[in-house]
Amino acid sequence: FSAFLTDNYERQHNYLRISLTEKCNLRCLYCMPEEGVPQSPPRELLTTPEIYLLSDVFVSEGVTKIRLTGGEPTIRRDILPLMHQIGSLRSKGLRELCITTNGISLHRKLDSMAEAGLTGVNLSLDTLDPWQFQIMTRRKGFEAVMKSIDRILEMNRLGAGIKLKINCVAMRGMNEREIIPFVELGREQDLEVRFIEYMPFDGNKWSKGKMLGYQEMLGMIRHKYPTLRKVQDHKNDTSKTYEIPGFVGRMGFITSMTHNFCGSCNRLRITNDGNLKVCLFGNAEVSLRDIIRKTNNGDPIDEEAFEAMKQIEMGRRQGPITSQGPLGRSEHEKELLDVIGM
Ligand code: GTP
Ligand code: 5AD
Ligand code: SF4
Repeated sequence: FSAFLTDNYERQHNYLRISLTEKCNLRCLYCMPEEGVPQSPPRELLTTPEIYLLSDVFVSEGVTKIRLTGGEPTIRRDILPLMHQIGSLRSKGLRELCITTNGISLHRKLDSMAEAGLTGVNLSLDTLDPWQFQIMTRRKGFEAVMKSIDRILEMNRLGAGIKLKINCVAMRGMNEREIIPFVELGREQDLEVRFIEYMPFDGNKWSKGKMLGYQEMLGMIRHKYPTLRKVQDHKNDTSKTYEIPGFVGRMGFITSMTHNFCGSCNRLRITNDGNLKVCLFGNAEVSLRDIIRKTNNGDPIDEEAFEAMKQIEMGRRQGPITSQGPLGRSEHEKELLDVIGM
């Protein structure tokens, strides 16, 4: 494994998340204001050849999993050719190609994505009620999302092998009564429902009272299903997995607010404008776009540019170890945790 991607804490960063766009076709209350988010000028955004070039570099250095994210990645016009290109990196060691999506337009693209080598879909869905969906996302589209879910399950019955996870942000006063129905999705279907603790982001009107914590959710589920039991997690999982005997599917909890999982974090992120970010909460970023544009116009990265990239990557990993997490906490994260008294 490349030293380039191993940090001072011996964490191997073999999972790369690439944001394809900041745009989205929904307006989830907790994520985006009605008017959307400000858009960067197009020339500042990574082009498709640039995204492929960076994917190639990272896979050659040891990244084995790439997840395409957004905004909503499926609204990028050339997502299919891009996925086919990235899929071809299997010959260089890529093992997983995943996408995180709201599922609105996914069903139309699934067949082609499967051909490209799609191995996992994390689909965001916070309610099973079409009316509530419209309230929470400020848009219509519930049926389209269900169609995507059904299509994945159908493809899997034919052997497609696409790991399906449903991401459900749990919010008191919004969808807490749906925890059990979400759990029951897994009774007969091979999928994992993951409940995510609601996190504060700029201006999303977060409050501690609206957050449904892991322990409380566990209590609710155990009350109805006392046989609920823990499943061993994989080394770098951010979620804690559980199962109910007799259910085909499973459930998990992403405890971003109540349990820090920095110690086992193996993620790198590239933003849609080409910045490398090592931590979700970190503000420091470095522009890979500027590095690759300075030296060439989409040709393979030359030795000098690559060295520069390595130096920056390693330099960024010299941060102090704190009692909380290996990367230390950013000012932003400290503020968040202050708010909830941790
Ligand atoms: P897999 O492990 O491959 O299933 O993906 P994932 O859970 O990393 O990806 P997904 O895009 O589905 O994200 C699910 C939730 O995890 C989101 O709410 C993210 O905000 C949260 N998350 C992802 N990465 C991090 C991280 O590095 N730190 C924290 N605190 N939360 C994260
Ligand atoms: N708190 C928790 N999860 C969030 N997501 C987006 N905003 C928040 C928030 N404030 C989730 C989405 C998606 C995942 C990538 O992040 O619902 O499933
Ligand atoms: Fe945000 Fe995802 Fe909802 Fe779009 S679907 S508004 S990106 S949470």
